[in-house]
Amino acid sequence: MTIDEYRFSDGRLAVVTGAASGIGRATALLLADRGARVLVVDQNTEGLEAMAVAAPGGKISTLALDLTGDDAGEQVKATVAAIDAPWRILVNNAGVGQARSILDSNREELARIMDINLNAVFAMSRAAAEVMPAGGGGAILNISSVFALVGTPNAAAYAASKAALIGLTQQMAAEFGPAGLRVNAVAPGLIETPMTEARIHQQGSVQQRMLVETPLQRVGQPTDIARAVAFLCSDAASFVTGQVLPVDGGWGVGRYPPGSL
Ligand code: NAI
Repeated sequence: MTIDEYRFSDGRLAVVTGAASGIGRATALLLADRGARVLVVDQNTEGLEAMAVAAPGGKISTLALDLTGDDAGEQVKATVAAIDAPWRILVNNAGVGQARSILDSNREELARIMDINLNAVFAMSRAAAEVMPAGGGGAILNISSVFALVGTPNAAAYAASKAALIGLTQQMAAEFGPAGLRVNAVAPGLIETPMTEARIHQQGSVQQRMLVETPLQRVGQPTDIARAVAFLCSDAASFVTGQVLPVDGGWGVGRYPPGSL
């Protein structure tokens, strides 16, 4: 395998949602650094402006958009059509978190979280599958969560949305595979981003307890996820589809802290 298989030297276009911040931002910058043209889609206009400044050599375009809007897929398709690069990668990263018990939550909160974490992914992926040509080597990557795989308190709606995303990933892999479009998911563990940083530093939080059970004994950084995303979207992963890759410092297997057995 040549190192080129980890790059996007043909300048293919990657759409990264929620990339004005955190994991999406790091992913967009890494893909651009590896040769891709990148369209960053987010509703955070301040973050988008900062992205445009941080981008190397004008390789990043931005689109300010609420992804839960009815015509979000159409708006992204129209923006992509105006960029002179073939759309081959979609990273569905935009999402919102949750820190509330089931008894303190209600159906409205569940619907709000589902709308961005799941429904928007469905709409964006559908738009991508309509545009990416059969045999074009396209890849869709969904950002799920380790909370989709393990029970934790205070994240029921969030975990349900991220678990549903795994089901959607597998269904899309089965439906789109014959056209050569691959669909995978990454399940991040605890990653230091604006979504989590306040809670990471709060004593006694779920996040603090997660760290004790993480064999690699550190909080993840956005680039840890970006590198896994880049691999799964690259030609180096050309026979990988329908999979969920936890990137969590081993939290999923770290049941017992060192010295506890
Ligand atoms: P973040 O809060 O830094 O970034 C999320 C981005 O999504 C923001 O820029 C926000 O403006 C955008 N966004 C949210 N709703 C939107 C909407 N309706 N339309 C357009 N943009 C919208 O969070 P972070 O941590 O970078 O999260 C990225 C993804 O990773 C999320 O899907 C999250 O659930 C997932 N994740 C994060 C983990 C962590 O520990 N930080 C762990 C597991 C999964």
